[in-house]
Amino acid sequence: MRASTFIQVFLSLQAVSAIRIIQSNDDGWAEGNLRALFTTLVNAGHQVILSAPAENKSGSGSSDSQPTKVDSDGCAWNSCPPNSPPTGANSSDPRLNYVNSYPVTSIKYGIDTVAPKLWGANSKPELALTGPNVGSNVGLAVQFSGTVGAAVYAARTARIPAIAFSGASDTKSPWNDVSFAAKVYADLAFNVTNTIIAKGTPYLPEDVWLNVNFPDVSQTKCSNPSQFKYILTRINSGILSKRDVQWCGTDRLPTESDIIKKTGCYVAISVGDAADKTTVDAERQAVVLEKLRPLLTCV
Ligand SMILES: *[C@@H]1O[C@H](CO)[C@@H](O)[C@H](O)[C@H]1NC(C)=O
Ligand SMILES: *[C@@H]1O[C@H](CO)[C@@H](O)[C@H](O)[C@H]1NC(C)=O
Ligand SMILES: *[C@@H]1O[C@H](CO)[C@@H](O)[C@H](O)[C@H]1NC(C)=O
Repeated sequence: MRASTFIQVFLSLQAVSAIRIIQSNDDGWAEGNLRALFTTLVNAGHQVILSAPAENKSGSGSSDSQPTKVDSDGCAWNSCPPNSPPTGANSSDPRLNYVNSYPVTSIKYGIDTVAPKLWGANSKPELALTGPNVGSNVGLAVQFSGTVGAAVYAARTARIPAIAFSGASDTKSPWNDVSFAAKVYADLAFNVTNTIIAKGTPYLPEDVWLNVNFPDVSQTKCSNPSQFKYILTRINSGILSKRDVQWCGTDRLPTESDIIKKTGCYVAISVGDAADKTTVDAERQAVVLEKLRPLLTCV
């Protein structure tokens, strides 16, 4: 075995270092997809703060406004009592926080208020993970997604590398009874996250976020994380765009919607430009391609 091959094998087997991660979403802090990923990350030794909307704030893009008192219905899935304060934490786990406002407001609160309290003033989050969203975020929908909005806020405004995850399965589940799909999505998100962390800092180029979409999964379809293939994609069709990075024998990547529609178990990973929520230039795609190379295959 050549020395470089040996080092590669060694790196792929060794555990990645534990880091500080901020999590958010737009479906609400009590949603099973988000909580399953929290559990997976914590079990792997990462330090994690979850700060997400009290209720479902799907489709709110990059909206941001002062949190208000929770209404008379309480938080989603009865996860906080009626008329609760504008922000709050789980009484036995201060890492779990709700914010009664938008996804951007929630992740900002986690970064600016919760992280200094739990980790100290000089320990900002090193990576932001949003979702997995309940439902896909591909193509035009990316512009309106709160899960993407929170990731883009992290990447562009807070300067924290960010990954937005979305899953096509529309199975909603509460934090204390997470769905089968939520567990599969957590494993897939963990795999992408670990691949990025293993390549070291900077985890992503400036002003870049990854838009990752998982296909529909169930007990009988794509039930095992080892069945999945990870494909480098673009967000929008590239008809009027400059060429993409050279990969899989072409300089035009497939769109993420083409990939998640395919028969089979495919994960679409697009390199997003946090400046306008479209596909980033070929130079920054190339940097991300090198980081994800161990995971990626061609269609
Ligand atoms: C949140 O609302 C969106 C849009 O109405 C819906 O598609 C999604 O399933 C909802 N999520 C939850 C967890 O209820
Ligand atoms: C609060 O945290 C406890 C301990 O981890 C857990 O059992 C409970 O389900 C959590 N509730 C919510 C709404 O997060
Ligand atoms: C990540 O996915 C690849 C491809 O399916 C697989 O070979 C690898 O074992 C996975 N790694 C982890 C940590 O799940």
